[in-house]
Amino acid sequence: MMEIAARQAMSLIAFTLPGTPFSARMARFYIRAALDYHDLDDYAEDIETVASELVSNAIAHAGARSFGLELLRLEDSGAIAVVVTDPCPRAPAMHHPAENAEHGRGLVIVEALSASWGWTRHDHGKAVFAIFPREGWPVEAISALPRLDHLDAD
Ligand SMILES: Nc1ncnc2c1ncn2[C@@H]1O[C@H](COP(=O)(O)OP(=O)(O)OP(=O)(O)O)[C@@H](O)[C@H]1O
Ligand SMILES: [Mg+2]
Repeated sequence: MMEIAARQAMSLIAFTLPGTPFSARMARFYIRAALDYHDLDDYAEDIETVASELVSNAIAHAGARSFGLELLRLEDSGAIAVVVTDPCPRAPAMHHPAENAEHGRGLVIVEALSASWGWTRHDHGKAVFAIFPREGWPVEAISALPRLDHLDAD
């Protein structure tokens, strides 16, 4: 998994999941448990939903046997970041689906529920991340968040 300087972020959970459909539910389960454990459950609904979309994308589009999931607490703002790493270098690309389209909504949901999201190259693939502000903090605090595009490939 990626290295982020300890003073910038604390890893709440970090693990590898197989690229099979049940991994989306597994991701939700472990994220919920980690947020509950750290009394961060106000975040849980949106973070679980977004993590599930990012994980589903890694499963569906990256063609990977396995992928990484990490939940981070950013130290200075208390914000939470979900990071999904996969070995496919192709970038996620948000579409604007037609109303009756069956697919193409995942990243629209990620954009709607998170304060910001993005991706960066990682190893030979990429890391896709979404960030959620600490409850009660103004969204403007997000501009003070550390950028995640310095993640070291290891
Ligand atoms: N991890 C990824 N690796 C490679 N391509 C990705 C990844 N995530 C997203 N994409 C690309 O971005 C597009 C948009 O993703 P998005 O989640 O919005 O829609 P979708 O996955 O096609 O449909 P839905 O999420 O509604 O089932 C995908 O169709 C895919 O081409
Ligand atoms: Mg999707």
